[in-house]
Amino acid sequence: MFAVVVIVLSAIGQRVLSEATGQARHARNLESNGISVLGGGDFNHDAAFPRFAEPIPNVTVTVGRDALLACVVDNLRGFKVAWVRVDTQTILSIHHNVITQNPRISLSYNDHRSWYLHIKNVQEADRGWYMCQVNTDPMRSRQGYLQVVVPPSIIDRETSADMVVLESTNVSLTCKATGYPEPYVMWRREDGEDIRYNGENVNVVDGEILFITKVSRLHMAVYLCIASNGVPPSISKRVQLKVQFPPMLSIPNQLEGAYIGQDVTLECRTEAFPTSINYWTTERGDMIISGSDKYEAVSMDNGYKKYMMLKIRRVNKSDFGSYKCVAKNSLGETDGVIKLDEIPAPTTVKTTTHLPTIMPKKKEYDYDSEYTLPSNGPPPIREPPGAFSTAAPRVQNFNAVLLLSLTLCLFESCLR
Ligand SMILES: *[C@@H]1O[C@H](CO)[C@@H](O)[C@H](O)[C@H]1NC(C)=O
Ligand SMILES: *[C@@H]1O[C@H](CO)[C@@H](O)[C@H](O)[C@H]1NC(C)=O
Ligand SMILES: *[C@@H]1O[C@H](CO)[C@@H](O)[C@H](O)[C@H]1NC(C)=O
Repeated sequence: MFAVVVIVLSAIGQRVLSEATGQARHARNLESNGISVLGGGDFNHDAAFPRFAEPIPNVTVTVGRDALLACVVDNLRGFKVAWVRVDTQTILSIHHNVITQNPRISLSYNDHRSWYLHIKNVQEADRGWYMCQVNTDPMRSRQGYLQVVVPPSIIDRETSADMVVLESTNVSLTCKATGYPEPYVMWRREDGEDIRYNGENVNVVDGEILFITKVSRLHMAVYLCIASNGVPPSISKRVQLKVQFPPMLSIPNQLEGAYIGQDVTLECRTEAFPTSINYWTTERGDMIISGSDKYEAVSMDNGYKKYMMLKIRRVNKSDFGSYKCVAKNSLGETDGVIKLDEIPAPTTVKTTTHLPTIMPKKKEYDYDSEYTLPSNGPPPIREPPGAFSTAAPRVQNFNAVLLLSLTLCLFESCLR
Protein backbone atom coordinates (compact mmCIF):
# COMPACT_ATOMS: atom_id res chain seq x y z
CA MET A 1 0.00 0.00 0.00
CA PHE A 2 2.82 2.42 0.89
CA ALA A 3 4.68 1.48 -2.29
CA VAL A 4 1.64 2.41 -4.35
CA VAL A 5 1.51 5.82 -2.66
CA VAL A 6 5.17 6.37 -3.48
CA ILE A 7 4.57 5.51 -7.12
CA VAL A 8 1.56 7.82 -7.30
CA LEU A 9 3.47 10.67 -5.64
CA SER A 10 6.39 10.03 -7.89
CA ALA A 11 4.14 10.13 -10.94
CA ILE A 12 2.63 13.42 -9.80
CA GLY A 13 6.08 14.74 -9.16
CA GLN A 14 7.15 13.84 -12.63
CA ARG A 15 4.18 15.55 -14.16
CA VAL A 16 4.75 18.71 -12.14
CA LEU A 17 8.40 18.67 -13.07
CA SER A 18 7.64 17.97 -16.66
CA GLU A 19 5.26 20.91 -16.81
CA ALA A 20 7.71 23.12 -15.04
CA THR A 21 10.84 22.28 -16.93
CA GLY A 22 10.13 19.76 -19.62
CA GLN A 23 12.82 17.59 -18.11
CA ALA A 24 10.85 14.82 -16.44
CA ARG A 25 13.42 12.17 -17.31
CA HIS A 26 15.98 13.64 -14.95
CA ALA A 27 13.72 13.31 -12.00
CA ARG A 28 13.43 9.68 -12.96
CA ASN A 29 17.23 9.46 -13.21
CA LEU A 30 17.70 10.44 -9.65
CA GLU A 31 14.95 8.18 -8.41
CA SER A 32 16.25 5.20 -10.25
CA ASN A 33 19.53 5.82 -8.55
CA GLY A 34 17.69 5.24 -5.32
CA ILE A 35 18.32 8.53 -3.62
CA SER A 36 14.80 9.84 -3.78
CA VAL A 37 13.72 10.67 -0.29
CA LEU A 38 10.15 11.28 0.64
CA GLY A 39 9.88 14.64 2.28
CA GLY A 40 7.27 15.15 4.93
CA GLY A 41 4.30 17.36 4.22
CA ASP A 42 3.07 19.20 1.15
CA PHE A 43 5.77 21.53 -0.17
CA ASN A 44 3.23 23.85 -1.73
CA HIS A 45 2.10 24.93 1.68
CA ASP A 46 5.18 24.32 3.81
CA ALA A 47 7.27 27.46 4.10
CA ALA A 48 10.04 25.48 5.75
CA PHE A 49 10.46 23.29 2.68
CA PRO A 50 13.72 23.67 0.61
CA ARG A 51 13.50 26.67 -1.66
CA PHE A 52 15.81 27.96 -4.41
CA ALA A 53 17.06 31.32 -3.29
CA GLU A 54 17.74 32.51 -6.85
CA PRO A 55 17.61 31.26 -10.41
CA ILE A 56 20.72 29.53 -11.67
CA PRO A 57 22.54 32.22 -13.62
CA ASN A 58 23.38 31.45 -17.21
CA VAL A 59 27.12 31.36 -17.68
CA THR A 60 29.13 32.23 -20.79
CA VAL A 61 32.69 30.96 -20.94
CA THR A 62 35.36 30.97 -23.61
CA VAL A 63 36.56 27.52 -24.50
CA GLY A 64 39.58 26.53 -22.42
CA ARG A 65 38.57 28.66 -19.44
CA ASP A 66 36.91 27.46 -16.24
CA ALA A 67 33.20 27.69 -15.50
CA LEU A 68 31.34 27.92 -12.24
CA LEU A 69 27.62 27.16 -11.86
CA ALA A 70 25.96 28.12 -8.61
CA CYS A 71 22.84 26.72 -6.96
CA VAL A 72 21.62 28.32 -3.72
CA VAL A 73 18.97 26.50 -1.69
CA ASP A 74 17.40 27.80 1.50
CA ASN A 75 16.00 25.46 4.12
CA LEU A 76 17.74 22.44 2.70
CA ARG A 77 17.67 20.66 6.06
CA GLY A 78 18.21 16.92 5.52
CA PHE A 79 17.65 17.05 1.73
CA LYS A 80 20.41 16.67 -0.75
CA VAL A 81 21.43 18.68 -3.82
CA ALA A 82 22.44 17.04 -7.07
CA TRP A 83 23.84 18.50 -10.29
CA VAL A 84 22.60 16.92 -13.51
CA ARG A 85 23.72 17.47 -17.07
CA VAL A 86 20.38 17.78 -18.87
CA ASP A 87 21.39 17.00 -22.49
CA THR A 88 23.19 13.79 -21.67
CA GLN A 89 21.03 12.89 -18.66
CA THR A 90 24.13 12.43 -16.58
CA ILE A 91 24.28 12.86 -12.84
CA LEU A 92 27.36 14.92 -12.09
CA SER A 93 27.21 15.17 -8.33
CA ILE A 94 25.05 14.20 -5.38
CA HIS A 95 25.44 15.95 -2.07
CA HIS A 96 29.16 16.06 -1.32
CA ASN A 97 30.18 13.55 -3.97
CA VAL A 98 31.17 13.96 -7.60
CA ILE A 99 29.57 11.11 -9.50
CA THR A 100 30.79 11.71 -13.04
CA GLN A 101 34.08 10.26 -14.22
CA ASN A 102 34.88 13.53 -15.97
CA PRO A 103 38.09 14.71 -14.27
CA ARG A 104 37.40 18.32 -15.23
CA ILE A 105 34.36 18.47 -12.95
CA SER A 106 34.54 19.22 -9.27
CA LEU A 107 32.22 20.44 -6.55
CA SER A 108 32.32 22.91 -3.71
CA TYR A 109 29.70 23.96 -1.16
CA ASN A 110 29.14 26.46 1.54
CA ASP A 111 26.95 26.54 4.64
CA HIS A 112 24.80 23.70 3.39
CA ARG A 113 23.22 26.37 1.19
CA SER A 114 25.42 27.18 -1.83
CA TRP A 115 26.42 24.40 -4.14
CA TYR A 116 28.96 25.12 -6.87
CA LEU A 117 29.70 23.00 -9.88
CA HIS A 118 33.19 23.66 -11.27
CA ILE A 119 34.08 22.76 -14.83
CA LYS A 120 37.73 23.20 -15.66
CA ASN A 121 39.10 23.81 -19.14
CA VAL A 122 35.64 24.08 -20.66
CA GLN A 123 35.09 22.30 -23.98
CA GLU A 124 32.48 22.90 -26.64
CA ALA A 125 30.88 19.61 -25.63
CA ASP A 126 30.12 21.11 -22.21
CA ARG A 127 27.71 23.61 -23.76
CA GLY A 128 24.14 23.07 -22.61
CA TRP A 129 21.68 22.99 -19.73
CA TYR A 130 22.71 22.09 -16.22
CA MET A 131 20.13 21.28 -13.59
CA CYS A 132 20.32 21.64 -9.84
CA GLN A 133 17.90 19.21 -8.15
CA VAL A 134 16.76 18.83 -4.59
CA ASN A 135 15.48 15.38 -3.68
CA THR A 136 12.18 16.48 -2.27
CA ASP A 137 9.16 14.61 -3.45
CA PRO A 138 8.29 15.73 -5.94
CA MET A 139 11.70 16.80 -7.05
CA ARG A 140 12.42 20.50 -7.17
CA SER A 141 14.90 21.78 -9.71
CA ARG A 142 16.26 24.78 -11.53
CA GLN A 143 18.44 24.90 -14.59
CA GLY A 144 20.95 27.24 -16.11
CA TYR A 145 22.62 27.34 -19.47
CA LEU A 146 26.36 27.05 -19.94
CA GLN A 147 27.29 28.88 -23.10
CA VAL A 148 30.68 27.96 -24.46
CA VAL A 149 32.01 30.46 -26.98
CA VAL A 150 34.99 29.96 -29.26
CA PRO A 151 37.04 32.82 -30.70
CA PRO A 152 37.25 32.81 -34.49
CA SER A 153 40.00 31.04 -36.33
CA ILE A 154 40.74 30.88 -40.03
CA ILE A 155 40.87 27.52 -41.73
CA ASP A 156 44.07 27.80 -43.70
CA ARG A 157 43.51 24.97 -46.13
CA GLU A 158 40.13 26.40 -47.18
CA THR A 159 41.43 29.96 -47.45
CA SER A 160 43.20 31.44 -50.47
CA ALA A 161 46.95 31.69 -50.46
CA ASP A 162 48.86 34.48 -52.19
CA MET A 163 47.95 34.70 -55.87
CA VAL A 164 49.46 35.84 -59.12
CA VAL A 165 46.92 36.37 -61.90
CA LEU A 166 46.77 37.93 -65.33
CA GLU A 167 45.03 41.25 -65.69
CA SER A 168 41.40 41.03 -66.94
CA THR A 169 40.84 37.55 -65.59
CA ASN A 170 38.31 36.78 -62.86
CA VAL A 171 39.73 36.26 -59.41
CA SER A 172 38.13 34.67 -56.42
CA LEU A 173 39.62 34.98 -52.94
CA THR A 174 38.09 32.68 -50.36
CA CYS A 175 38.24 32.81 -46.60
CA LYS A 176 36.76 30.22 -44.25
CA ALA A 177 36.60 30.62 -40.52
CA THR A 178 35.27 28.66 -37.58
CA GLY A 179 34.24 29.70 -34.12
CA TYR A 180 31.14 29.91 -31.95
CA PRO A 181 28.96 31.78 -32.62
CA GLU A 182 29.64 31.39 -36.32
CA PRO A 183 32.10 34.14 -37.28
CA TYR A 184 31.33 37.01 -39.55
CA VAL A 185 33.88 37.20 -42.37
CA MET A 186 34.86 40.21 -44.43
CA TRP A 187 37.58 41.39 -46.78
CA ARG A 188 39.41 44.65 -46.93
CA ARG A 189 42.74 45.98 -48.18
CA GLU A 190 45.62 46.10 -45.78
CA ASP A 191 46.52 49.60 -46.97
CA GLY A 192 42.99 50.80 -46.21
CA GLU A 193 42.33 51.84 -49.82
CA ASP A 194 38.93 51.20 -51.35
CA ILE A 195 38.36 48.08 -53.42
CA ARG A 196 36.91 48.49 -56.88
CA TYR A 197 34.10 45.97 -56.65
CA ASN A 198 31.19 45.45 -59.04
CA GLY A 199 31.61 48.94 -60.41
CA GLU A 200 31.71 50.59 -56.99
CA ASN A 201 34.44 51.65 -54.62
CA VAL A 202 33.95 49.90 -51.32
CA ASN A 203 36.10 49.71 -48.25
CA VAL A 204 34.85 46.35 -47.06
CA VAL A 205 33.43 43.35 -48.87
CA ASP A 206 31.27 41.18 -46.64
CA GLY A 207 31.35 37.43 -46.84
CA GLU A 208 33.76 34.60 -47.40
CA ILE A 209 34.33 35.20 -51.08
CA LEU A 210 35.88 38.23 -52.71
CA PHE A 211 35.07 37.75 -56.39
CA ILE A 212 36.70 40.28 -58.66
CA THR A 213 35.60 40.25 -62.29
CA LYS A 214 38.18 41.45 -64.79
CA VAL A 215 40.86 42.15 -62.23
CA SER A 216 42.95 45.23 -62.90
CA ARG A 217 46.37 46.38 -61.76
CA LEU A 218 44.54 48.65 -59.32
CA HIS A 219 43.50 45.51 -57.46
CA MET A 220 47.11 44.59 -56.82
CA ALA A 221 47.34 44.70 -53.02
CA VAL A 222 47.52 42.75 -49.82
CA TYR A 223 44.03 41.78 -48.73
CA LEU A 224 42.96 40.94 -45.20
CA CYS A 225 40.33 38.40 -44.50
CA ILE A 226 38.94 39.32 -41.08
CA ALA A 227 36.85 36.93 -39.00
CA SER A 228 35.04 38.06 -35.87
CA ASN A 229 32.21 36.76 -33.71
CA GLY A 230 32.28 39.00 -30.68
CA VAL A 231 34.65 36.68 -28.85
CA PRO A 232 38.09 38.24 -28.67
CA PRO A 233 40.44 38.15 -30.35
CA SER A 234 39.29 38.75 -33.92
CA ILE A 235 41.64 37.23 -36.42
CA SER A 236 42.84 38.10 -39.87
CA LYS A 237 44.86 36.54 -42.64
CA ARG A 238 46.89 38.34 -45.28
CA VAL A 239 46.47 37.32 -48.89
CA GLN A 240 48.61 39.05 -51.46
CA LEU A 241 47.19 39.51 -54.94
CA LYS A 242 49.60 40.23 -57.76
CA VAL A 243 48.25 41.19 -61.16
CA GLN A 244 50.46 40.68 -64.19
CA PHE A 245 50.31 42.80 -67.32
CA PRO A 246 52.66 43.75 -70.16
CA PRO A 247 54.44 47.12 -70.02
CA MET A 248 52.56 50.27 -70.86
CA LEU A 249 54.16 53.61 -71.43
CA SER A 250 53.23 57.26 -71.50
CA ILE A 251 55.30 60.30 -72.37
CA PRO A 252 54.41 63.69 -70.92
CA ASN A 253 56.32 65.61 -73.63
CA GLN A 254 57.00 63.90 -76.92
CA LEU A 255 58.70 67.00 -78.22
CA GLU A 256 61.43 68.65 -76.18
CA GLY A 257 63.40 71.72 -77.07
CA ALA A 258 66.86 72.70 -75.93
CA TYR A 259 69.45 75.16 -76.99
CA ILE A 260 73.11 74.50 -77.33
CA GLY A 261 74.81 74.23 -74.00
CA GLN A 262 71.66 73.58 -72.03
CA ASP A 263 71.05 70.56 -69.82
CA VAL A 264 67.80 68.88 -70.78
CA THR A 265 65.75 66.11 -69.18
CA LEU A 266 63.52 63.69 -71.05
CA GLU A 267 60.72 61.90 -69.16
CA CYS A 268 58.87 58.67 -69.61
CA ARG A 269 56.34 56.89 -67.40
CA THR A 270 55.77 53.16 -67.52
CA GLU A 271 53.60 50.57 -65.79
CA ALA A 272 54.33 46.85 -65.78
CA PHE A 273 54.13 43.77 -63.63
CA PRO A 274 56.32 41.79 -63.23
CA THR A 275 58.60 44.79 -62.89
CA SER A 276 60.00 45.77 -66.27
CA ILE A 277 63.53 46.40 -67.34
CA ASN A 278 63.67 49.97 -68.59
CA TYR A 279 66.31 51.77 -70.61
CA TRP A 280 66.92 54.55 -73.12
CA THR A 281 68.27 54.29 -76.64
CA THR A 282 69.41 56.75 -79.24
CA GLU A 283 67.75 57.23 -82.58
CA ARG A 284 69.91 54.46 -84.01
CA GLY A 285 68.89 52.08 -81.25
CA ASP A 286 72.13 52.21 -79.27
CA MET A 287 71.51 51.73 -75.60
CA ILE A 288 72.39 54.84 -73.63
CA ILE A 289 74.70 54.13 -70.76
CA SER A 290 73.93 56.20 -67.74
CA GLY A 291 76.58 57.71 -65.52
CA SER A 292 78.73 59.18 -68.22
CA ASP A 293 79.62 62.81 -68.32
CA LYS A 294 76.91 63.26 -70.93
CA TYR A 295 73.97 61.16 -69.78
CA GLU A 296 72.36 60.46 -66.48
CA ALA A 297 69.38 58.08 -66.45
CA VAL A 298 67.28 57.96 -63.30
CA SER A 299 64.31 55.74 -62.60
CA MET A 300 61.93 56.11 -59.67
CA ASP A 301 59.78 53.12 -58.83
CA ASN A 302 56.44 53.18 -57.10
CA GLY A 303 54.88 49.75 -57.08
CA TYR A 304 54.31 48.72 -60.67
CA LYS A 305 54.94 52.28 -61.89
CA LYS A 306 58.23 53.69 -63.02
CA TYR A 307 59.16 57.22 -63.79
CA MET A 308 62.22 57.41 -66.06
CA MET A 309 64.32 60.47 -66.64
CA LEU A 310 67.22 60.96 -68.99
CA LYS A 311 69.32 64.00 -68.35
CA ILE A 312 71.48 65.14 -71.27
CA ARG A 313 74.16 67.55 -70.19
CA ARG A 314 75.43 70.45 -72.28
CA VAL A 315 73.43 69.69 -75.37
CA ASN A 316 75.39 70.12 -78.61
CA LYS A 317 74.36 69.76 -82.23
CA SER A 318 74.89 66.05 -82.36
CA ASP A 319 72.44 65.53 -79.46
CA PHE A 320 69.39 66.71 -81.40
CA GLY A 321 67.21 63.96 -82.75
CA SER A 322 65.09 61.17 -81.32
CA TYR A 323 65.40 59.21 -78.12
CA LYS A 324 63.54 56.10 -77.15
CA CYS A 325 62.50 54.85 -73.72
CA VAL A 326 61.96 51.10 -73.61
CA ALA A 327 60.20 48.87 -71.03
CA LYS A 328 60.33 45.07 -71.17
CA ASN A 329 58.93 42.32 -69.00
CA SER A 330 58.09 38.64 -69.46
CA LEU A 331 54.70 39.55 -70.96
CA GLY A 332 55.89 42.02 -73.55
CA GLU A 333 57.76 45.12 -74.54
CA THR A 334 56.92 48.66 -75.45
CA ASP A 335 58.74 51.83 -76.34
CA GLY A 336 58.10 55.50 -76.91
CA VAL A 337 59.94 58.20 -78.85
CA ILE A 338 60.86 61.67 -77.67
CA LYS A 339 62.19 64.14 -80.15
CA LEU A 340 64.76 66.69 -79.02
CA ASP A 341 64.77 69.82 -81.14
CA GLU A 342 67.01 72.78 -81.14
CA ILE A 343 65.58 76.05 -79.89
CA PRO A 344 67.17 79.47 -79.81
CA ALA A 345 69.03 80.34 -76.68
CA PRO A 346 67.01 82.79 -74.62
CA THR A 347 68.14 86.33 -74.26
CA THR A 348 68.80 87.54 -70.78
CA VAL A 349 68.39 90.74 -68.87
CA LYS A 350 71.76 92.01 -67.94
CA THR A 351 72.22 92.67 -64.28
CA THR A 352 75.10 94.31 -62.59
CA THR A 353 74.78 92.39 -59.38
CA HIS A 354 77.38 89.67 -59.19
CA LEU A 355 76.85 87.31 -56.31
CA PRO A 356 79.63 84.73 -56.19
CA THR A 357 77.54 82.17 -54.29
CA ILE A 358 75.23 81.58 -57.23
CA MET A 359 77.77 81.43 -60.02
CA PRO A 360 76.96 78.54 -62.38
CA LYS A 361 79.40 75.84 -63.28
CA LYS A 362 82.04 77.13 -65.63
CA LYS A 363 81.11 76.47 -69.19
CA GLU A 364 83.32 74.05 -71.01
CA TYR A 365 82.85 75.26 -74.49
CA ASP A 366 83.23 78.54 -76.25
CA TYR A 367 79.79 80.07 -76.44
CA ASP A 368 80.69 82.79 -78.95
CA SER A 369 82.37 80.63 -81.56
CA GLU A 370 79.85 77.80 -81.53
CA TYR A 371 76.47 79.37 -81.60
CA THR A 372 74.74 82.30 -83.18
CA LEU A 373 71.10 83.14 -82.78
CA PRO A 374 68.73 82.96 -85.74
CA SER A 375 68.57 86.29 -87.51
CA ASN A 376 64.95 86.95 -86.59
CA GLY A 377 65.56 86.75 -82.86
CA PRO A 378 66.62 89.63 -80.76
CA PRO A 379 70.36 90.02 -80.49
CA PRO A 380 71.81 88.17 -77.55
CA ILE A 381 73.27 90.11 -74.74
CA ARG A 382 76.81 88.96 -74.45
CA GLU A 383 78.40 88.47 -71.18
CA PRO A 384 81.87 87.53 -70.13
CA PRO A 385 82.30 83.75 -69.94
CA GLY A 386 81.38 82.54 -66.50
CA ALA A 387 78.70 85.13 -65.86
CA PHE A 388 75.72 83.52 -64.19
CA SER A 389 73.11 84.36 -66.77
CA THR A 390 74.30 82.16 -69.58
CA ALA A 391 73.74 78.56 -68.49
CA ALA A 392 70.25 78.43 -67.06
CA PRO A 393 69.06 81.99 -67.23
CA ARG A 394 65.58 81.90 -65.79
CA VAL A 395 66.34 80.14 -62.57
CA GLN A 396 69.56 81.97 -62.00
CA ASN A 397 67.97 85.36 -62.60
CA PHE A 398 65.22 84.56 -60.23
CA ASN A 399 67.72 83.57 -57.58
CA ALA A 400 69.66 86.71 -58.25
CA VAL A 401 66.58 88.86 -57.68
CA LEU A 402 65.81 87.01 -54.50
CA LEU A 403 69.33 87.32 -53.20
CA LEU A 404 69.53 90.90 -54.27
CA SER A 405 66.44 91.80 -52.32
CA LEU A 406 67.73 89.85 -49.34
CA THR A 407 71.01 91.67 -49.54
CA LEU A 408 69.24 95.01 -49.77
CA CYS A 409 67.17 93.97 -46.85
CA LEU A 410 70.25 93.17 -44.83
CA PHE A 411 71.78 96.51 -45.56
CA GLU A 412 68.64 98.43 -44.86
CA SER A 413 66.05 97.93 -42.23
CA CYS A 414 65.09 94.28 -41.89
CA LEU A 415 67.21 93.48 -38.86
CA ARG A 416 66.58 96.67 -37.03
C1 LIG B 1 19.13 31.62 -19.40
O1 LIG B 1 18.99 31.55 -20.79
C2 LIG B 1 17.71 31.13 -21.21
C3 LIG B 1 17.70 31.06 -22.72
O2 LIG B 1 18.97 30.84 -23.22
C4 LIG B 1 16.66 32.09 -20.70
O3 LIG B 1 15.38 31.61 -21.07
C5 LIG B 1 16.76 32.20 -19.20
O4 LIG B 1 15.89 33.18 -18.74
C6 LIG B 1 18.15 32.57 -18.79
N1 LIG B 1 18.26 32.58 -17.35
C7 LIG B 1 18.79 33.57 -16.67
C8 LIG B 1 18.84 33.44 -15.20
O5 LIG B 1 19.22 34.58 -17.24
C1 LIG C 1 34.17 36.45 -65.39
O1 LIG C 1 33.02 36.71 -64.64
C2 LIG C 1 31.97 37.32 -65.38
C3 LIG C 1 30.86 37.69 -64.43
O2 LIG C 1 30.58 36.64 -63.56
C4 LIG C 1 31.51 36.35 -66.46
O3 LIG C 1 30.50 36.95 -67.23
C5 LIG C 1 32.70 36.00 -67.34
O4 LIG C 1 32.35 35.03 -68.28
C6 LIG C 1 33.85 35.50 -66.50
N1 LIG C 1 35.00 35.35 -67.36
C7 LIG C 1 35.78 34.27 -67.34
C8 LIG C 1 36.94 34.26 -68.24
O5 LIG C 1 35.55 33.32 -66.60
C1 LIG D 1 78.88 66.83 -78.88
O1 LIG D 1 78.93 65.94 -77.79
C2 LIG D 1 79.37 64.65 -78.08
C3 LIG D 1 79.24 63.83 -76.91
O2 LIG D 1 79.75 64.45 -75.77
C4 LIG D 1 80.77 64.67 -78.59
O3 LIG D 1 81.20 63.37 -78.95
C5 LIG D 1 80.81 65.54 -79.81
O4 LIG D 1 82.14 65.71 -80.23
C6 LIG D 1 80.23 66.91 -79.51
N1 LIG D 1 80.08 67.64 -80.74
C7 LIG D 1 80.49 68.86 -80.88
C8 LIG D 1 80.24 69.46 -82.22
O5 LIG D 1 81.08 69.45 -79.98
